[in-house]
Amino acid sequence: MTLCTRRKFLRTLTVAGTTAWAASRIGFVSGSSLVLRPMASQGGALDLSLTAQAGRLSLAGRPAALYSYNGSVPGPRLEIRSGDDVRIRFANRLPESTNLHFHGLHVPPSGNANNVFLEIPPGESQIYEFTLSPHHRCGTYWYHPHIHHLIARQVWAGLVGLLIVRGELDDIPEIRDADEEYLVLKDFGLDANGKLLMPDPTPQIMQGREGDLVLVNGELNPTFRISKDGLLRLRVLNASVARYYRLQLEDHPMYLIATDGGPIGEPFELRELLLAPGERAEVLVRGERSPGRYRLMNLPYRRFNMGMMGGGQMMGGMGRMRGTTISSNEPIVLATLEYRETGRPLPLPSRLVPIEPLPQAIQVRQLVFSHNMMRMGGDAFTINGLSFDPKRTDTTVRVGTVEDWEIVNGGGMMMDFDHPFHIHTNTFQVVSESDRSPRFQAWKDTVNVPRGGSVRVRIPFQDFPGRTVYHCHILDHEDLGMMAVVEMRS
Ligand code: C2O
Ligand code: CU
Ligand code: CU
Repeated sequence: MTLCTRRKFLRTLTVAGTTAWAASRIGFVSGSSLVLRPMASQGGALDLSLTAQAGRLSLAGRPAALYSYNGSVPGPRLEIRSGDDVRIRFANRLPESTNLHFHGLHVPPSGNANNVFLEIPPGESQIYEFTLSPHHRCGTYWYHPHIHHLIARQVWAGLVGLLIVRGELDDIPEIRDADEEYLVLKDFGLDANGKLLMPDPTPQIMQGREGDLVLVNGELNPTFRISKDGLLRLRVLNASVARYYRLQLEDHPMYLIATDGGPIGEPFELRELLLAPGERAEVLVRGERSPGRYRLMNLPYRRFNMGMMGGGQMMGGMGRMRGTTISSNEPIVLATLEYRETGRPLPLPSRLVPIEPLPQAIQVRQLVFSHNMMRMGGDAFTINGLSFDPKRTDTTVRVGTVEDWEIVNGGGMMMDFDHPFHIHTNTFQVVSESDRSPRFQAWKDTVNVPRGGSVRVRIPFQDFPGRTVYHCHILDHEDLGMMAVVEMRS
């Protein structure tokens, strides 16, 4: 661990800020300049420096004071292959502690691998290191900070980046030859001077903060090209703190080919794609319409209801009187798809990557996600009645076994929210959603648990002993305590 003095840190920050300012005035700094320029592994190894820093940059053509990785929002797109060695020399030049989490990777949760209990103080550095198994599922993963109480704010400020694992799906001929684009969906709230808006303690933090500036790769309504009769592969990440995306592409169905945990068995036609915070999807779009411009829309989605006093758990079986629903956002245009004449015609692939069915679970657990606004000293967001405590182990499992976890949305006193459940280290398959079977098998690490609903997931705990966490991926809810520790024992 290298040390860097406070003075040096301040000097670096000033210089970086000045440079970014000067460059943005002559148009060199683009918020998304690096999202398309990957930092890819070579010869089986990815070795890079990543710096979390504060400074001014240009976001969607306006100045913004943000946090960034290596000066870009979103951060650089990291690309690796199954079997690769990864070594990241991480430096914290923020005025506060941070760390790195590789969301979705099946690597050790301990040591200096994917360990969310590491805390890197301001001015310090940490080398993160792990090796991906040669059997690691390929897919669209991502990285972001994971310090309890600070996650929402640091992600809100810009600290997100894609982490692509290439593998089997990428080698399918039609997919290999398809055009490929990346969509990091993230909203921002900035004042006229480019300062980040901070939400009121209540109710905005409780609801989960959302911003008016809804961007794709840090850009407002970017254009993506599709070839007439060709295939376009979109890798979509919901990197927002709390905002849900309900995507619809004008006049075009989307063919789902991968979810958070990697490829599915065959393409699945979708009219709409709902992504809760933390979720990813890969879809294929066919250039099957007359050449022109088509809009990628975000349709309204209600992720919470405001109730009235007197309902909820304290009143037992009385039920809940629902009042107004606050979340009434309008449809918005996120991006534009534009046809180009050239390109090669490609058919949809018929088969993708088979999903191994899981054996029966040896253990069933129930986890109730709820919140109680009546508690003294603030609102408690809990799992099975408890707020997060990093020293407490909430659940103990054995490596090499399969468990069913039933995640129940227990609601709250005055409001009801959807909660996206996320677990680290191991991915799961959804067994049922409010008693309905899923429409197709898929590997996932994040799944939405709707208001009044429950989701049963089957989790194989494989390979890695250690302690890690599961939580709600509305990051404000996580920071308010909706997180718990699972210990995997060998
Ligand atoms: Cu995307 Cu625990 O994190
Ligand atoms: Cu994660
Ligand atoms: Cu939640």
